[in-house]
Amino acid sequence: MIASAYTLSVKVLIIGAAGQVGHALAELLEKTPGIEPVALNRRQLDITSKDDIRRQLDKHLPDYVVNCAGFNRVDAAERQVDQALAVNRDGPGLLASACAELSIPLLHLSSDYVFDGHYASGYSEDDEPSPPCRFGRSKWEGEERVRQLQPQHLILRVSWIFSGRGHNFLLRTLEQARQDSVLEAADDRRGCPTSADDVARVVLAILRQLACGIEVWGTYHYCGAEITTRYGFSEAILAAVRQFEELKVTSIRAVSTADLHPLAERPASSVLKCRKLLSTFGVRQRPWRVELQRVIRELYGES
Ligand SMILES: NC(=O)c1ccc[n+]([C@@H]2O[C@H](COP(=O)([O-])OP(=O)(O)OC[C@H]3O[C@@H](n4cnc5c(N)ncnc54)[C@H](OP(=O)(O)O)[C@@H]3O)[C@@H](O)[C@H]2O)c1
Repeated sequence: MIASAYTLSVKVLIIGAAGQVGHALAELLEKTPGIEPVALNRRQLDITSKDDIRRQLDKHLPDYVVNCAGFNRVDAAERQVDQALAVNRDGPGLLASACAELSIPLLHLSSDYVFDGHYASGYSEDDEPSPPCRFGRSKWEGEERVRQLQPQHLILRVSWIFSGRGHNFLLRTLEQARQDSVLEAADDRRGCPTSADDVARVVLAILRQLACGIEVWGTYHYCGAEITTRYGFSEAILAAVRQFEELKVTSIRAVSTADLHPLAERPASSVLKCRKLLSTFGVRQRPWRVELQRVIRELYGES
C-alpha cells in the first residue's frame, strides 16, 4: 500500500458484491484510478465459511476488506433466526478474526435497526443500541464481534437503502403501483432514504483517507439528507416514476405500521445523525431526492 494523499494504490476486497451496496461499490471502485477492486459474490465467498474467507484473503491479499453481505429480510429473520445470525453475526466474526490475523483493516456495514427508534430526532454513534427485532439484534451482535476481534475496523451504519436492483422499497413500491390503484404506506416511521451509490461514494471517501495512513477506527453513521416517512418516500417515488410511465395507482393511503401487520417490530425513527462522519472524513450528506431522480432516470434508460 502506498500512503500518499495523491497516488493511491490499493486492493479492496468486496464481500456481498451482488447486493445493492456491494454492486454499486464494485462499479465505483472499478472506475477509480489507483484502486483495484476484487468483487466476490456469495458463491465465491460465503461469509459463513471460514475456509472461503481464508482462501480468498490468502489468494488476493487485499489492503482493505469491505463487508457488504447481509441477511436483510427483516421479517424472515424472525423465523430464520439461525440463518440471520450465521450471516449477520457469526460471518462478520469469522471475517474479523481472519482480517486481524493478516492485519487487514475491515469496513463493515451495519444498520439503523440496532436502535429501538424511540428518538425522533435521530441517533448518534454514542447512543446505546437496543434492537427492536431479531434482524436488528443479529446486526448488533455482528458489530460487537467485529469490535472485539479486529481493532482495525470501521463500522458504517446506514439506513433505508434504495437502488435500481435487488430487493428494496423503491422497487416494491413501483411493482405495487403497476398492479394496484391504492397503495398503503406507513406515515409513523421516519427515516432518511439512502441510495446504494451514495453509500459507495462514502465508502470510497473513507478508503481514500485510510489509505493516507489516518487511523480513525470506530463506528460511524451515514444516511441521505432530509427526514421523511415511508408515506413521503412513496409519494416521491411515484412522482419521479410518473415522468416516465403511467401507473395504475391513483392514491396512497397513509396507515400506521401496525396496520400493515409486519412480523418484526421496526424502529419508529431510523434517523441517523451523521456529524461524526462529516467531522472525521469531511463527508457531507447528499439529498436523497436528487439520488432518487437519478436512479429513476437510470431505470428508464435516461442516464
Ligand atoms: N437494504 C437496506 O435498506 C439496509 C438498511 C440498513 C443497513 N443495511 C446494511 O447494508 C449492507 C448492504 O445492504 P444491501 O441493501 O446492499 O444488501 P442486499 O442487497 O440484500 O445484499 C446483500 C448481499 O449479501 C449476500 N449474502 C447473503 N448471505 C451471504 C453469505 N452467507 N455470504 C456472502 N454473501 C451473502 C446476498 O447474496 P444473495 O443475493 O445470494 O442472497 C446479497 O448479494 C448490509 O450490511 C445491510 O444489513 C441495508
